[in-house]
Amino acid sequence: MELAKREWSGKEVAEMHRQYIMQSWSKCGGDVLPVEKAKGIYFWDYDGKKYADMASLLVCSNLGHGLPEIVEAVKTQADKMCFMAPAYASEPKSRLAKMLVEAAGSDIYRRVFFTNDGAESNENAIKMARMVTGRTKIFSCYRSYHGATLAASNASGDWRRFAAEIGGANGFVKFMNPHMYRDGYDKGVDDAMVTKKSLEALELQMRYEGPENVAAVLMESIVGANGVILPPDGYMEGVRALCDKYGILLICDEVMAGFFRTGKWFAWQNFDIKPDMITFAKGVTCGYVPLGGVIVNGRVADYFEENVLQCGLTYSGHTLACAAGVAAMNYYKEHEIGKHVMQMQGILMPFLEHMAEKHICVGEARCIGLFGVLEMVKNKQTREPMQEYGIPGPWMPWIFTELKKRGFATFGRENFIEICPPLIITERELEEYLPVLDEVLTMVDEKLEGGML
Ligand SMILES: Cc1ncc(COP(=O)(O)O)c(C=O)c1O
Repeated sequence: MELAKREWSGKEVAEMHRQYIMQSWSKCGGDVLPVEKAKGIYFWDYDGKKYADMASLLVCSNLGHGLPEIVEAVKTQADKMCFMAPAYASEPKSRLAKMLVEAAGSDIYRRVFFTNDGAESNENAIKMARMVTGRTKIFSCYRSYHGATLAASNASGDWRRFAAEIGGANGFVKFMNPHMYRDGYDKGVDDAMVTKKSLEALELQMRYEGPENVAAVLMESIVGANGVILPPDGYMEGVRALCDKYGILLICDEVMAGFFRTGKWFAWQNFDIKPDMITFAKGVTCGYVPLGGVIVNGRVADYFEENVLQCGLTYSGHTLACAAGVAAMNYYKEHEIGKHVMQMQGILMPFLEHMAEKHICVGEARCIGLFGVLEMVKNKQTREPMQEYGIPGPWMPWIFTELKKRGFATFGRENFIEICPPLIITERELEEYLPVLDEVLTMVDEKLEGGML
């Protein structure tokens, strides 16, 4: 790849970042890796060191980096028209909306509201649900993340909501979604019992809140950043049934799990449910230009054919972003990415399961499509997590540093490592990089055996 002459060294880039950038979810001024270029599943720092992007950055670069089909579509559109305001029609916007409705199922879904990212998508879905139902309350899960704007933060379950709760926000009710492993159960064995218990608790909570006050249940179809949590069998269907019983809308957040991460267009398509609204972002353009949105069904679309949609954004349906979206959607289809993901799952899943058998520091492996996670434990028998939820400790950051030193870039949290490579990853690339994980896990085992953890 030809690069323009460097004006700043990597050291300067990093130093200016440390001085001037307010760093997301961190104290400002910390260490940062300056990255110069990215291509395929790789990116390179300024010293020329290559990293395999085993998390698709923030589980968004589904089609990897520098894909000519998307880059060219953006360039061609930029030459023609970079942006047209939401009140006007433009070909990329009209095309992409039609493609998204068709991917979700045009028998049920009718329209799309475009946003710039995942948080705005959930923000607007929440507003729409309140307008359509005339109700206030939004139920969402503790083990979840829905974005960092005010309502999306308040709907999020993990610690990232706390700053948004300062001053209070009305109508956000949390329920505990099941996590088979962490709650002490076994997937494939205890599903029916956990589903029954969880749904009974949820229904009781809805009754205490007054179901006539509940506008929507907002859920990640498969919880992502809180650890690729696979729901027990029948759970999502049960939530849908409760929503139907009480006239509550179901919003599935597909920001992370959508666009073939699980092998299907949308992760809810792994269950026997149809949400009323689907929120999306990330994989729709794979980050080449930011874009998000809400796909709505007939009930919601009908309402806004009779009533004014009180939602709007200057850049709703941004022309360049939609051009990137059309190119990405075409690529997913033409290259049968869903089929490829299922083939690669055939390598990733058994490997992760093998890691769980082999290493004393791995309690469980979970994987659907190329959405994988290793649950890290101090004690396999008791399932004591590597670090307790909400309590920072040195060992997980140490693991991520050791992986990165060996060119394996990914992220995780107190007690898990996420493995979510770009969906275009090949068998050879997986076979080259997965052993790095094995090597680092062996080092963690040794520390556990040596009583250091
Ligand atoms: C499930 C889910 N919803 C919403 C968001 C927020 O998206 P964004 O950061 O684009 O606002 C994220 C981000 O990681 C996410 O994983």
